[in-house]
Amino acid sequence: MSFTIAVAGKGGVGKTTLAGLLVRYLVEKGETPVLAVDADSNTNLNEVLGLELPLTLGDAREEMKKGQSMGMTKDLFIEMRVNQCLVEEKGFDLIAMGRPEGSGCYCAANNLLTASLDALSDNYKYIVVDNEAGMEHISRITTKKVEMLFVISDPSRRSLTAAARIRDLAVEMGVLTGPCHLVLSMVRNEPPQALLDAVKEMGLELAGILPDDEDLASQDLAGEPTSRLPLDNPVVKRAFEVFEKTVSSQ
Ligand SMILES: Nc1ncnc2c1ncn2[C@@H]1O[C@H](COP(=O)(O)OP(=O)(O)OP(=O)(O)O)[C@@H](O)[C@H]1O
Ligand SMILES: [Mg+2]
Repeated sequence: MSFTIAVAGKGGVGKTTLAGLLVRYLVEKGETPVLAVDADSNTNLNEVLGLELPLTLGDAREEMKKGQSMGMTKDLFIEMRVNQCLVEEKGFDLIAMGRPEGSGCYCAANNLLTASLDALSDNYKYIVVDNEAGMEHISRITTKKVEMLFVISDPSRRSLTAAARIRDLAVEMGVLTGPCHLVLSMVRNEPPQALLDAVKEMGLELAGILPDDEDLASQDLAGEPTSRLPLDNPVVKRAFEVFEKTVSSQ
């Protein structure tokens, strides 16, 4: 049985950065194998992890919809494509959802994809899903529940409101079966008291605070994978502390 952890929040708040660090944390802890799922149509978890991505599931879905299955049964074809989409690394694999659906009905293609992904995820101890804002597409693409949700917010009220809404939606849709942890990211100095009050008011559980870090920003600008920053980098250090008290203690 795999344990699914999803990362969600408003745009640009540091979701992919945290998801990449979570993958690294699990691998370093020996909690393997891990499947990293890039559920953002604007694929970029691979960059944070420092991997090339040749093919995405969106491409395969498009082929399926057009009825291209190279003379194979559809099940076999999608299984082959899913395996081709998997990028293998030490301790973890990465798969990306890629392009969103075009117009028309994708039900048949999605059903096959879901069945294939569900079967695949049974091979992993942990699944880490990096999302785009919103939770709807999680339940569309896999029938698996999310056992732990990290909602990320920068130190703004709007971003915090988005995090609380995503939590509410995940609970309402029955996708989330476990705890939801808030991580404040890109925080300069101390978080303002008004922000901490708003966290309480929204009933969010604050798991940790990540600083706005220049080294991380410049590593990213240089096109280097931010998940590989040294362990004494303040963002890596704080993120690992968060995982220690949430993921490792569950
Ligand atoms: N703690 C941090 N300090 C400084 N820069 C950061 C920090 N976290 C993330 N960044 C930078 O901010 C940008 C956005 O981060 P990231 O891609 O992780 O956010 P995201 O929430 O996944 O964005 P999107 O909504 O586009 O998927 C990146 O350039 C990243 O390197
Ligand atoms: Mg992202």
